[in-house]
Amino acid sequence: MRQRASILGVGLVALTGVPKLRHRLWRWWYDLLAQRDRDGDWLLMNYGYVPLRGSQQTLKLDPEQEPYRYPLQLYDHVVARLDLAGKDVLEVGCGRGGGAAFLATRYLPRALTGIDLSPLAVARCRAAHQAPGLSFETGRAEALPVASACCDIVINIESSHCYADMQRFLSEVRRVLRPGGQLAFCDLRTTAGMMRLRENVAACGLQTVYEELINRQVVRALDRVTEQRMATIDHKVLRIWRPLMNNFVGARGTPMYNMLRDGRMEYIHLLLRKPDVL
Ligand SMILES: C[S@@+](CC[C@H](N)C(=O)[O-])C[C@H]1O[C@@H](n2cnc3c(N)ncnc32)[C@H](O)[C@@H]1O
Repeated sequence: MRQRASILGVGLVALTGVPKLRHRLWRWWYDLLAQRDRDGDWLLMNYGYVPLRGSQQTLKLDPEQEPYRYPLQLYDHVVARLDLAGKDVLEVGCGRGGGAAFLATRYLPRALTGIDLSPLAVARCRAAHQAPGLSFETGRAEALPVASACCDIVINIESSHCYADMQRFLSEVRRVLRPGGQLAFCDLRTTAGMMRLRENVAACGLQTVYEELINRQVVRALDRVTEQRMATIDHKVLRIWRPLMNNFVGARGTPMYNMLRDGRMEYIHLLLRKPDVL
């Protein structure tokens, strides 16, 4: 049984190397996760962030946000150099919308639109989150369903590793940003994938304002959430799927966790800016 699950897992990962299948596979996967999360309590899906220095609990949260502290800290860290107040913001790959709702209520953008490939995830977002200016749409990162020069800030958190065409996504970001607008980005890549990402960034016509590898901060977060995530998986997921799911959520001791810890998988935070004059 375990062997069958592993073979299927390897098959799924291998399939993601075929661009045309990537969309279908990831949409199927994230639709499935949205469908199976019957309690609707998986509102954030990233690996999280814990600062290296100072208090580990610097971010003030409401009690109902505490279960999502580390994934919210990743959102907070990625937008820390930006002023969202009064801006038009797009989040691409918003998942279940917990990050978008947090940013909308804390930083008061004029409008924040969350876009995701998974129609079921978007339906969950609409049901779970209501705030002034906050909305959700189904759409693909490589063909954003919005007008050109419509926003000041694009946010993209731990989603781009799924994309069939990263260059196309970055060119879409350039299209939808106003001059001077910024992309706040974070995601993980293998060493080879990071080289391709850097080539994509160099070719996209956006200027790099800030860059930081945050593996250690992400691993610190995974250390704190592993037990709770594994307990949830034990409770909700069939035994044969547990190794795959534990790896997916980056639980301590899994290949994903080990690669992030020893640097074979790099986790990068980038801030890119569209030039004022085109
Ligand atoms: C790991 S989740 C992260 C979600 C959210 N950013 C968070 O931190 O909770 C990745 C998300 O990217 C979305 N995604 C994958 N491929 C996409 C694409 N081509 N266009 C838009 N969204 C995509 C998935 O449906 C999923 O919701």
